[in-house]
Amino acid sequence: MREAVPEPPHPVRPVPDDRSTVPDDRGTVPDDRGPVPDDRDASGRVAPPVGEGDPRKGSEVRAMFDAIAPRYDLLNAVLSLGIDRGWRRQAVAAALAKRPSDVLDVATGTADLAIALRRAGPDARVVGVDFAEAMLDVGRAKAARRGVDVTLEVGDGTALPYPDASFDAVTIAYGLRNFADVDAGLREFRRVLRPGGRLVVLEFPPPPRGAFGRLFRFYFLRVVPLLGGLISGRRSAYAYLPASVLAFPTPDALAERLRGAGFQNVTYHLQTFGVSALHQGDVP
Ligand SMILES: C[S@@+](CC[C@H](N)C(=O)[O-])C[C@H]1O[C@@H](n2cnc3c(N)ncnc32)[C@H](O)[C@@H]1O
Repeated sequence: MREAVPEPPHPVRPVPDDRSTVPDDRGTVPDDRGPVPDDRDASGRVAPPVGEGDPRKGSEVRAMFDAIAPRYDLLNAVLSLGIDRGWRRQAVAAALAKRPSDVLDVATGTADLAIALRRAGPDARVVGVDFAEAMLDVGRAKAARRGVDVTLEVGDGTALPYPDASFDAVTIAYGLRNFADVDAGLREFRRVLRPGGRLVVLEFPPPPRGAFGRLFRFYFLRVVPLLGGLISGRRSAYAYLPASVLAFPTPDALAERLRGAGFQNVTYHLQTFGVSALHQGDVP
């Protein structure tokens, strides 16, 4: 008798093989940089859809972060070697430059940025919002342990549960590439910001070219899924990370999309040889 093979939750997504290096109309550079890692777990689970437009993306991303929440901080520390602390410090400085009273950290996850914002700006009210409850639970416990007063709430970044013009600064760190509709998110950030308010976005752009880029791509495409899989038990989640980065718009294209959402004075700078990018823009 043939052994029954369990069906994966949904079919494995095909990897396109026309990998041109020309950015498409959203500024995304298709992946020409070696094989895409297998995103299937031993259990047959596959990573959420990368890129934009797939209606399943939101619920699959949420489920993925709920599943990895208990190990998220440990993995962050191991995989980034602590370098992300400097990137976040720059984001905090940009967000607090105009001395905001009310700050919203979208896709706050385990609240590292929200906690850093509150510590650096003790006069500001800091709210963190995320749709993955388990990530927020880790963040709440951490904030309580550290005696930092931040409010962490459940909400979707593409439909924020706040009135128009209720914050002076909005931040988002490594969350935007997980949105099924980046422009909807940017419009929401603009909507909840007051006139003169500032948006600060930290995100991983598609990896740089050249020798450093090759080294980094090897680390990102090979080592991260392996280590992430070993520590979290969810290889699919850590295959999704590099795949979603490869599918994200270039920094120039993202800057253009901030302008398209109504932000002005839009600038960005690359951090650590282009591994991370900090964008900012202001509401007129
Ligand atoms: C890579 S983590 C980043 C967490 C945190 N900002 C940090 O820097 O460590 C991405 C977070 O984005 C959240 N997220 C993704 N899409 C979201 C959406 N549409 N609305 C709210 N949260 C979202 C996930 O639940 C997850 O906690």
